[in-house]
Amino acid sequence: MDITAIKTEPYLDQAMGTSGLRKKTAVVRQSRYIENFTQAIFDSLEGFAGKTLIIGGDGRFYNDKALQTILKIAAANQFGRIIVGQNGLLSTPATSHIIVKYGAIGGIILSASHNPGGPDGDFGIKFNTENGAPAPQSVTDKITARAHTIDRYWTMNIPDIDLSEIGEQTFGNTVIEVIDPVADYAAYMQEIFDFSAIKTLFTNGFTMIYDAMNAVTGPYAKRIFEGLLGAPAGTVIHGTPLPDFGGLHPEPNLTYAKHLVDMMYADSAPDFAAASDGDGDRYMILGRSFFLNPCDSLAILTQYLDSIPFYHGRLTGVARSMPTSFAADAVARDKHIACYQTPTGWKFFGSLLDAGKITLCGEESFGAGSCHLREKDGIWAILAWLSILAQTGKTVAEITHALWQQYGRVFAMQQSYEGLDATDANTLMEKLRESLPTLNGTTVNDRTITDAAEFTYADPVTGDTATGQGICLSFGSDARIVYRLSGTGSSGATLRVYLNERTTDATRFSQSPATAMADLADISRQIANLKKHTGRETPTTIT
Ligand code: G1P
Ligand code: ZN
Repeated sequence: MDITAIKTEPYLDQAMGTSGLRKKTAVVRQSRYIENFTQAIFDSLEGFAGKTLIIGGDGRFYNDKALQTILKIAAANQFGRIIVGQNGLLSTPATSHIIVKYGAIGGIILSASHNPGGPDGDFGIKFNTENGAPAPQSVTDKITARAHTIDRYWTMNIPDIDLSEIGEQTFGNTVIEVIDPVADYAAYMQEIFDFSAIKTLFTNGFTMIYDAMNAVTGPYAKRIFEGLLGAPAGTVIHGTPLPDFGGLHPEPNLTYAKHLVDMMYADSAPDFAAASDGDGDRYMILGRSFFLNPCDSLAILTQYLDSIPFYHGRLTGVARSMPTSFAADAVARDKHIACYQTPTGWKFFGSLLDAGKITLCGEESFGAGSCHLREKDGIWAILAWLSILAQTGKTVAEITHALWQQYGRVFAMQQSYEGLDATDANTLMEKLRESLPTLNGTTVNDRTITDAAEFTYADPVTGDTATGQGICLSFGSDARIVYRLSGTGSSGATLRVYLNERTTDATRFSQSPATAMADLADISRQIANLKKHTGRETPTTIT
């Protein structure tokens, strides 16, 4: 086979963020950009010759071109087998699952997750290691360092590979195998959940809409919900993956999935609605005229998980990212299981899951997952909820109200200020950091800050520490404000402000978080001098 080394020069903007390399599509379309980064990933691995590599993506614009480039470079680097989803599709959770199932050394996922796609949208490259988890800091640091010194890559001079048919093709020492992207994942979900119980729900007339947002989960949802579980045809909407996601912003939240929210607040609403993001690792759930906050969802999953067959007797602990509300903590205490607080980003859950310290984990940003794999998993979370609904015979709203009755309601709201000037955003954070010692004990709008600190995490398993993981201001034990900068943006900066407040006053349970925490939101703007540093007073998105 014709393998050549091509000389190249590094792109110094290439770096791994919260979840891989995330750039504007136009940036990755530059000559040798994908090539460099792919070779940098391989150069930072050891002993991969002859091993298996998984490749797939969410189907967004430019995935097809990038996939061909990556396949040729992987073949030139002498991987033994490259498993790729048919038409290049593989959801993030499905990739994580098959990395482990097929004993691969790792997997490359082409996705910018929930960011819009297209020539003017975003593109991303994620790398997961052999345990199926997003590459840990030690690996991402190596990849970034290598990308900054790279001077050559290898490629195989072969025509584009046909990814439309399932089967194997051999190129030199490498077999490229195109697989059904859904089959393994669907079979795994059947091992975890009692499909017959969920099926009975649908047989008895339960109605659902699942919105795949024209992204990768369409084929998964059709096979699982409409096929295996017997939901009527048409349950899955926006079910065909499209390069530009049909113009949708594939981020299921109250802003970008407003169409779904409107459907659920209409008279004709079905019993249940769910949606996933671009690469299928996030989920949003709504009941009839009811929005399920992901922080409450994590608490409820903690309550019910061990009633799902796969988890009987396996619930050891739960972890949540620091900005995720403390709703799950009270449930964990009650169940006598451990509860961990990690920095934002899924990679921090991996060591806890591997060590068996936790069974379940989640983030406020619509992510939940368990020991079944090392990524968050949108369809899994939805199946977990369907299992709970089947088991209890209650609605989403009833189950959540019961949680609030038992533990109090923890209001949770995330306000994102997107598209900020990066220098402005950094200055705002720097000033906050500097003021931490004086903020302790300060009173604003009659509320006193009882603790002001920047979050540092020491991984209880690996001992690794992560500093600068968000600034947290506590007002007693029941209210707090958290500030951090997003690590997944492709340009500029996004400031995230997270507000939480617990109430045990049942007359307040029906308040909206915006009303319940209007005061806290005001304090968050005052303390950060938001207007002064950014010129903004209103967030771009609120969830
Ligand atoms: C965001 C979310 C975070 C999530 C990540 C990847 O990261 O806040 O919880 O893990 O996307 O889906 P951020 O942009 O805030 O760094
Ligand atoms: Zn995602």
